[in-house]
Amino acid sequence: MAKTSVRRIILDVDTGIDDAWALIYALRAPTLDVLGITTGFGNADVDTTTRNTLAVTDLLQSRVPVYRGAVKPLCRPWDGPVTSYHGVNGLGNASVPDPLRPPENTEAVDFLHQVLTALPHEVTIVTLARLTNIARLLLYDPHVAPLISRLVIMGGAAFVPGNVTPVAEANIWGDPEAADLVFQSGIPITMVGLDVTHRARLTWDDLDRLDSSLPYAAMMRDATAFYLKAYERDHPEMQGWCPIHDPLAVAVAEDPSLVAVRRYPVRVEHAGRWTTGMTVVDARMGEQPHGIEVALDLNAPAFLHRFWDRVGIAPA
Ligand code: BDR
Ligand code: CA
Repeated sequence: MAKTSVRRIILDVDTGIDDAWALIYALRAPTLDVLGITTGFGNADVDTTTRNTLAVTDLLQSRVPVYRGAVKPLCRPWDGPVTSYHGVNGLGNASVPDPLRPPENTEAVDFLHQVLTALPHEVTIVTLARLTNIARLLLYDPHVAPLISRLVIMGGAAFVPGNVTPVAEANIWGDPEAADLVFQSGIPITMVGLDVTHRARLTWDDLDRLDSSLPYAAMMRDATAFYLKAYERDHPEMQGWCPIHDPLAVAVAEDPSLVAVRRYPVRVEHAGRWTTGMTVVDARMGEQPHGIEVALDLNAPAFLHRFWDRVGIAPA
């Protein structure tokens, strides 16, 4: 029988409702070894996202270490929590149990540096948040860039509209200087942006099929109901479903064949009057061998079946 290989990953999160689903997916995936989780500001302030991350790991009976990270963007003030989509507590105002343990004493950037130097070329980092922690790591020690096996980034919008401005996706908009630094670093990158995450859809019916005996079921049902209602309120084209951005990036790290990619140069605009946060994908000269892998198509049924299986949703 073929041996299933296990991929070592680090998750960088701003938990967040879709981050919480991504954590559940990753920590229940037998083919993923989560070495640690780093947190940052984004959907909520960093203390809240760290607390939510710890609460989710507790519900999964996981002791994976959690490291607190960035408080604000590299060069700008933070523009505040995304309460309209993630609630005031980051988890749709659902009841969240108090964490059973604190985060690690080590800061996120120090943890990343230690792991990458101890396990060169072996670790994939899956970023589900602003790219501030990774940019700070590169500023702290640029020599770690070649030690990262791959970055799978939930962020950006190549050939579709943004979700914060007409051209900017939230994780890039939230720290565009950091994002440009990371995209220019030479690290192998797969960009899992809105081109594909808007095709990764969770419905009310899916939520009804979540196994209610799971310890996280009640919290995630309440949180996701808030998230579904927010998308239905703001997006006439998203009635009855919401995009599950972050779990898709984890799934792509686990199985890159879920998406079709094209390799293009990508820069992030951070000085534009109307275009700050735009991922500027240069497709004029066709694919470039060392370009960013930009995910442009998704095998949605394959992703969904895997997502349901991982998180405990019965098949439709
Ligand atoms: C991304 O922004 C965050 O609010 C979500 O958790 C996701 O990572 C979607 O644009
Ligand atoms: Ca996120």
